[in-house]
Amino acid sequence: MANQDATTGSITSGKRLYIETYGCQMNEYDSELVRAILKKENYTFVPSEDEADIIMLNTCAIREHAHRKIFGRIHQIHHSRKFVAGCSGLVARATNNERPLIGILGCMATNLRTELLENKSLKIDFIAGPDSYKRLPQLISEAMSSEQQATSNEQRKPFDITLSEFETYSDIFPQPEGGVGAFVSVQRGCNNFCTFCVVPYTRGRERSRAVDNVVEECQRLADSGFQQITLLGQNVNSYRHENNDFADLIEAVSQVKGIRRIRFTSPHPKDFPDKLLDIITNNPKACKHIPLPLQSGNDRVLELMNRTYTRREFLALVDKIRAKCPKMALSTDIIVGFSSETDAEFEDTYKAMEQVEFDSAFIFKYSERKHTIAQRSLKDDVPDAIKTERIVALNELQKDICLTKNSAHIGETHAILIENTKAGKTGDRCVGRTDGHTLVTLAQGTYNVGDWVSAKITAASPNGLKGKAV
Ligand code: 5AD
Ligand code: SF4
Repeated sequence: MANQDATTGSITSGKRLYIETYGCQMNEYDSELVRAILKKENYTFVPSEDEADIIMLNTCAIREHAHRKIFGRIHQIHHSRKFVAGCSGLVARATNNERPLIGILGCMATNLRTELLENKSLKIDFIAGPDSYKRLPQLISEAMSSEQQATSNEQRKPFDITLSEFETYSDIFPQPEGGVGAFVSVQRGCNNFCTFCVVPYTRGRERSRAVDNVVEECQRLADSGFQQITLLGQNVNSYRHENNDFADLIEAVSQVKGIRRIRFTSPHPKDFPDKLLDIITNNPKACKHIPLPLQSGNDRVLELMNRTYTRREFLALVDKIRAKCPKMALSTDIIVGFSSETDAEFEDTYKAMEQVEFDSAFIFKYSERKHTIAQRSLKDDVPDAIKTERIVALNELQKDICLTKNSAHIGETHAILIENTKAGKTGDRCVGRTDGHTLVTLAQGTYNVGDWVSAKITAASPNGLKGKAV
């Protein structure tokens, strides 16, 4: 066995690990899983790469920008750790004559395995996809022994990017460091195959955890002081385990003592039955905020994207949500410049955003991803300059909408859960969020993370609100 504990003198004993996380909240959660798995094996996690024997990057593949960032980061690590050629032909670190191992985890690991392993200048030592984290102890010890025996750069690198139909990590309970909110993964993978999206290829098929198992994790988190749970899934509202759907799951989590707010991300507009809308509307712990990714406001583009809803259906859903709960905050994701999107089709997205008035929006330029249906069968033919024009136009529109919507809160009183007491340029601002997820900066007062403050809203900007405790 390669990774026994320190007393047995294995090559991995006492090794120090550093992990850096990119991408979505699921990756944040997964990094906690990785910590939990490796702490059991007596690895120590260190807060800085300088102290680490092993550096792991938990990566994202959603847009090209994410890839570029990781490649840049790997080169920077090589550079900053002063890699120098050792006498055995190995690359050695100047300080202790041992270079840190570099491991790539996450979505890019699955999507770019060949490039990562074959590109010699990257010097990657091991690779683990999102379903392979339980194999990390083994992959790391294999990487270490091949490093010790290495005589050339031609060594086989340990990797596991196998996607599983079943892996939910339900037997591992991550223990994030204290804070106010924690993530809980309830559903992994995606079966939707939106044509632009790499997730079905990097994270595999949809699978859900048992309700009791999720509740147990939430109870543990509540017992260690977390008050807010964000339920995570690539397609979270298609959660289903035995006879339980996502509404049942929210209901069950809301019974957990100590949990006061429940959020979720990221849902698909196709899976919002009345039962779910009613739970979100009526359960006092369910936050009155629904992320509702529109992606495009044009039917031809929506069809090309394989989103399975029309503009009209989406707008009808928005109306239904607001009829049930007028104060429900809605946020969205938009992609501009998807394959063959014309000016007129883009206008439809613009108008849909004007009409809905989302409380916030994440707007992205289309980025062609390897392996996706769009990459195989459509062209990435909207020039980058046009994509830029479109993203600028939507961001400006959304900024105005945010200001108008935020200004409407002036004079109201909101319950704010304090998330950060060291915010702002001076590092002394207290910020928290409303139930609807809007950021509120408190004008004065000393608070702790996790405090609840009843605040009267005194000012608004496109980015958030200012409030005063009442
Ligand atoms: N290009 C640009 N944006 C994308 N997204 C997903 N795939 C792509 C892509 N290939 C966006 C979608 C999704 C969000 C998480 O990222 O808007 O909702
Ligand atoms: Fe990025 Fe999607 Fe993977 Fe999250 S699931 S890390 S957003 S590619």
